[in-house]
Amino acid sequence: MIKKVFLSMFILLLPVLYLQGQLLVNMEDEPASFEANKLCFDCHSKKIYSFENEVTGRIERRAMNPNFVYSPDEFYQGVHRHFSCTDCHSPAYEVFPHQAELRLEPMYSCLDCHGGDPTYESYHFDLIGEEYEKSVHASKHDENFNCWMCHNPHSYRVMTRGNFRVSEIVNYHNNMCASCHDNSDRFQRVSDSLKLPLDKIHSFLPNYKLHFSAVRCIECHTSVEDTMWVAHNILPKEMAVRKCVECHSSNTILMSSLYKYQNIEARRTRGTLNAVILNEAYVIGANRNVYLNIISIVLFGLTLLGILVHIIFRIKKH
Ligand code: HEC
Ligand code: HEC
Ligand code: HEC
Ligand code: HEC
Ligand code: HEC
Ligand code: HEC
Ligand code: HEC
Repeated sequence: MIKKVFLSMFILLLPVLYLQGQLLVNMEDEPASFEANKLCFDCHSKKIYSFENEVTGRIERRAMNPNFVYSPDEFYQGVHRHFSCTDCHSPAYEVFPHQAELRLEPMYSCLDCHGGDPTYESYHFDLIGEEYEKSVHASKHDENFNCWMCHNPHSYRVMTRGNFRVSEIVNYHNNMCASCHDNSDRFQRVSDSLKLPLDKIHSFLPNYKLHFSAVRCIECHTSVEDTMWVAHNILPKEMAVRKCVECHSSNTILMSSLYKYQNIEARRTRGTLNAVILNEAYVIGANRNVYLNIISIVLFGLTLLGILVHIIFRIKKH
């Protein structure tokens, strides 16, 4: 009897396993821009590039500016993976040496394409734009600082809605800030002020490393907007969260520190079924999926029922 119950449990589970497999397989589609971008990546993914010198007729090898080297892997995981390089850059870049005046071409901003577009309503682009305008970066740096400073045009992906662990989200988000606050070259590109080391600034935190792997910069440096998934209003430093109790309140440290995670999690479970199932597939046992939870409760009930029936039959036999 028990065997039968397990068998029926397995059969009942099959569609769930099948569904998970399907969704995982369908995630990777070949980016439309793949062929077109080969020309650019031929040079812009390498430390050393080569070209034919039209004057001497020789093949020359030169070192590429490291800031102009991009990973195709990261590009094709990004939100704009279907773009050709020349959708954002002038097609005149197909010619090398590039014309000098090309670097004067104005670049599109996120809002040029996404502003007021109902397709992307759930991302609240316009609200993000308003919040960003209020932030310290916008008010201190004006035109030099823009959305692309954090959203790397050649790799940005959305982390809050995918199949990622909270630790991965924290890491990705914090690296967006650290790409400058931990990198003097990039920092100095937008400002003449002195870049202070992050560990010195945050020495008030007892375990700086642990904190930075467990919470995001924006947890302490923004005012949270409930309608948005990612707050964009970076406040002046005087307004940053410093009080330990804001996170470590009367509950246990773990409970209160998990509070913000749960917030993210709760928002994520309200996403599509697709995303939810993918989440579950990666974070085994995290118990976040309502649908799978219901199924497992039903299965548990069936098992109990099976055992009960079994016991009743045994008692009757004796
Ligand atoms: C033969 C190698 C080669 C190819 C192919 C190539 N590039 Fe470049 N690219 C370079 C080098 C070297 C630089 C830096 C020196 C310069 O600006 O000429 C550069 C610079 C750039 C810059 C920065 C210009 C600036 O100074 O702001 C952009 C943007 C760019 N390339 C885009 C492209 C795009 C888009 C393609 C494909 C359509 C492409 N490149 C193909 C070698 C190449
Ligand atoms: C979604 C639009 C977009 C696409 C697609 C795109 N770029 Fe860019 N690219 C930008 C923007 C915006 C900048 C300026 C960023 C900045 O100021 O830091 C830029 C800057 C660059 C630079 C100069 C970097 C610097 O530090 O000044 C190079 C080189 C470059 N892109 C090459 C490429 C290549 C090669 C591809 C294709 C693989 C590509 N881009 C695809 C938007 C794009
Ligand atoms: C040149 C126009 C253009 C610019 C500039 C641009 N985007 Fe996009 N973006 C698009 C298009 C078109 C898509 C849809 C791509 C697709 O479906 O493959 C897209 C997709 C996205 C998505 C994924 C939407 C989804 O649900 O799949 C996000 C997020 C996004 N962009 C954010 C940004 C951000 C942030 C910026 C600025 C830093 C930006 N975009 C700049 C045109 C643009
Ligand atoms: C100081 C850094 C910074 C700047 C500047 C910035 N962003 Fe972001 N943005 C982030 C971070 C961090 C995230 C979270 C990354 C993720 O998971 O998508 C994010 C996420 C987003 C998202 C996805 C939100 C969602 O609902 O998942 C959009 C859309 C976006 N930003 C648009 C913009 C636009 C438009 C601008 C310019 C007006 C901008 N950002 C400027 C840091 C920045
Ligand atoms: C636990 C909360 C917390 C976290 C997490 C946090 N900060 Fe801070 N940060 C603060 C506080 C509080 C200050 C003000 C410190 C002071 O003025 O002495 C500050 C100051 C700063 C300053 C201003 C430095 C100056 O004096 O000019 C920068 C820049 C900064 N933080 C960046 C970051 C970045 C980047 C991250 C993520 C890698 C981050 N912070 C994470 C709380 C935090
Ligand atoms: C492109 C580089 C760059 C990126 C990316 C960046 N910042 Fe900054 N940030 C700066 C610079 C430069 C300043 C210094 C402003 C000044 O005093 O000129 C600054 C200042 C700050 C300050 C101090 C504001 C004050 O009151 O003095 C905070 C806090 C801060 N950034 C947080 C963040 C956070 C959080 C992120 C990621 C979401 C981030 N930054 C991403 C360049 C950057
Ligand atoms: C933005 C929220 C936040 C703030 C503010 C904050 N913490 Fe934390 N703290 C955390 C998180 C999240 C962890 C990681 C919990 C974990 O993973 O075990 C942590 C871990 C710790 C730990 C290590 C606990 C352990 O398991 O080893 C100590 C000690 C600590 N915090 C003390 C403080 C003190 C003291 C302050 C104030 C100066 C402070 N924290 C401010 C969120 C915060």
